[in-house]
Amino acid sequence: MPQQVTVTEHILLHQKMVPGATGQFTRLFNELVLSAKIISRAVNKAGLVDVLGFTGAVNVQGEEVKKLDEYANRILIHRLARSGVLCAMASEENADIIEVPESLPRGDYIIIFDPLDGSSNIDVNVNIGTIFSIFKRKSSPDATLMSEDVLQKGSEQVAAGYILYGSSTMLVFTCGDGVHGFTLDPSVGEFILSHPNIRIPEQGKIYSVNEGYERYWDRATKKALAYFKSPKNALRKPYSGRYIGSLVADFHRNLLYGGIFMYPADLRDPKKPTGKLRLTCECNPMSFLVEQAGGMSIDGVNRIMDIDPEHLHQRVPFFCGSRNDVQIVQDIFVSEA
Ligand code: AHG
Ligand code: MN
Ligand code: MN
Ligand code: MN
Repeated sequence: MPQQVTVTEHILLHQKMVPGATGQFTRLFNELVLSAKIISRAVNKAGLVDVLGFTGAVNVQGEEVKKLDEYANRILIHRLARSGVLCAMASEENADIIEVPESLPRGDYIIIFDPLDGSSNIDVNVNIGTIFSIFKRKSSPDATLMSEDVLQKGSEQVAAGYILYGSSTMLVFTCGDGVHGFTLDPSVGEFILSHPNIRIPEQGKIYSVNEGYERYWDRATKKALAYFKSPKNALRKPYSGRYIGSLVADFHRNLLYGGIFMYPADLRDPKKPTGKLRLTCECNPMSFLVEQAGGMSIDGVNRIMDIDPEHLHQRVPFFCGSRNDVQIVQDIFVSEA
C-alpha cells in the first residue's frame, strides 16, 4: 500500500520544524479541517436537503446571500472560535471584525475567510470553495486588538489556502514552504496528501476572465486580452479561454495547468471601480499561494501582497497566475501608465 500522509500528520511534521512552535497553529488548522468536512458534506447533499437558494438577506457586499453562504459562515465562525487560539476573525459575509467571545480561550491568530466562494454556482452543481488567510496579531496579547492587527499586508500572512468542493474535495494551502494539496477520502474522512509541492507552469495556455464586460475595462486590460488571443503572442497561437465564475475553481485549474486569472477594474459599474474581488479574503490568500508555487499576482502594476489594506472589504483589480503571463500584463500596464 502506498504511504498515505494525512493533513494532520503533515501539519505536525511542519510544526516540529518550527523552533518555538506551541501547537496553536495545529489547533487552528484542525478546526479548519473539521469545518471543511462539515461544509463539504452539506455541499454534497445540497440537492437533497433544503440548502439551495437565497436566505432573503443582502450582505455587506451588496449581494443576495445564499443559504449555503450563511451555513458555511456559521460553521466556520462556530468551529474556529473554539480553536482557542484566535483573537479575531473576519468574513466576506460580515461587515465588521468578529471578536472571539470572552467566555472562550483566545490566542494570537487572526483568520480572514470567504466562507463560500462562487455563490452563483451553488444551485447548478458547479464547483465552489472556501478561502482562508491567517495572520498573527502585531500588538501585544493583552492590549486591545487594533484594526492594524487585522488589516495587515498579504506579505505578513503566516498561512493561506482554500478548500475546493469539486469532483473531489481538496484542501490546498501554504504555510510559506511551498503549496501542498490534499484530497478528502470520504470513506475514511481524512484529507490525504495527493499534490505535494505544487508548482505553477511558468508559461500558461489559458486566460480566465469574465469577457462579457470587456467594453468596460481600461485600455491596458483590453490590450492584455488582445495579446492572449493573438496568434503572434509567445505561444504563437491564441490561449484557450476558461472561466467558471468561482475564483477557487478557476484558480485551482490555472495553478495545475498554468494560465492567468483576471478580474480587472470595471469603469462602468460604480460598485466595481477597482474590480470585484476582495483584497483580504480573496486576493491575498490566492497571491500567497501563487507566489509560493512560483507564479505572480498584481493589481496591474503593484504586487498584491504589498498593498496596505485600508478597510476589510476593499476591492482590487486582480491579475494572478503563471509568471510569464502576469509579467506580460504588468509590462502593458507600466507602458500604458
Ligand atoms: P463570492 O461567491 O464569494 O461572492 O465570490 C464571487 C466571485 C468569485 O468567485 C468569482 O471569481 C467572481 O465573483 C465572478 O464574478 P462575475 O460573475 O462578475 O464574473
Ligand atoms: Mn459573495
Ligand atoms: Mn468569493
Ligand atoms: Mn463568498
